[in-house]
Amino acid sequence: MDLGTLIKGKRVLVTGASSGLGAHFARLMARNGAAVVIAARRKDKLEALAEELGALGASQVTEGALDGADEASVKQAFEEIATTGADLDVVVNNAGISGDGLALNLPTSDFDAVGGTNLRGVWLVATEAARRWKAAQRAGAIVNIASIQAERVAPGLAAYSASKAAVVQLTKSLALEWARFNIRVNALEPGYIRTELTAELWDQPYGVEMIKRIPMRRLGEPSELDGPLLLLSSSASSWMTGSVIAVDGGHLVSAL
Ligand SMILES: NC(=O)c1ccc[n+]([C@@H]2O[C@H](COP(=O)([O-])OP(=O)(O)OC[C@H]3O[C@@H](n4cnc5c(N)ncnc54)[C@H](OP(=O)(O)O)[C@@H]3O)[C@@H](O)[C@H]2O)c1
Repeated sequence: MDLGTLIKGKRVLVTGASSGLGAHFARLMARNGAAVVIAARRKDKLEALAEELGALGASQVTEGALDGADEASVKQAFEEIATTGADLDVVVNNAGISGDGLALNLPTSDFDAVGGTNLRGVWLVATEAARRWKAAQRAGAIVNIASIQAERVAPGLAAYSASKAAVVQLTKSLALEWARFNIRVNALEPGYIRTELTAELWDQPYGVEMIKRIPMRRLGEPSELDGPLLLLSSSASSWMTGSVIAVDGGHLVSAL
């Protein structure tokens, strides 16, 4: 089965689409003929991406400023989405920040910012989408982008790991509550993938050592998330909800 064909003509919102994995996911959806809504805070980046997506085959591209951590901004973005095209079919809840810093050095404001974007943002976007789907008696699929840090820990990532673990539990809770409305909620847990968020790390001695601990002995490529994301976004996963899929080169099964 070509999973991409199941996305053709669907309307897909990708948050955090201005760089990294989000921009990659938007390109993936566009190449497969979806109508793509790209959202993030940096409008200039979205404008450049929007031009590219049209050329890639997206049936429609809509870009919008969205600060996932801000409730008013999320509500306004959804209002704008509703006026610019058909109802959404899929939400890829991808926006995230890392907030590095050993716990004793991490300002509380940074802890709040990580939780605000990675957890509260996922909550705000998911609930806004689901409220609209439920009112319209329409099916929907939400894919939350968590991380293998939801399952294991690393120094300097306490806030990030805690936020991603919470996203996994949120995914399961929302899946339970919304299954009766035909709204599916699943999560991906990417392992270590080179993007703007992580680029600097991998060339440092510490980063090189980290790569050696991945059983497949290499970083992942964004394209290695394509199959799992298309699966969870499409009817190929019509009986999956509350599922959490790790895509990590075996990192979660590395030897203790
Ligand atoms: N790269 C990896 O190895 C890896 C591994 C596991 C999980 N992940 C997860 O994958 C997701 C994408 O990460 P990435 O590596 O692609 O990082 P990235 O390149 O830094 O992209 C993060 C995106 O999130 C957006 N964003 C940040 N705060 C936001 C906010 N308050 N509201 C709306 N958008 C916001 C950013 O856009 P603006 O700044 O324009 O708002 C940007 O587009 C994150 O959730 C991350 O935790 C990444």
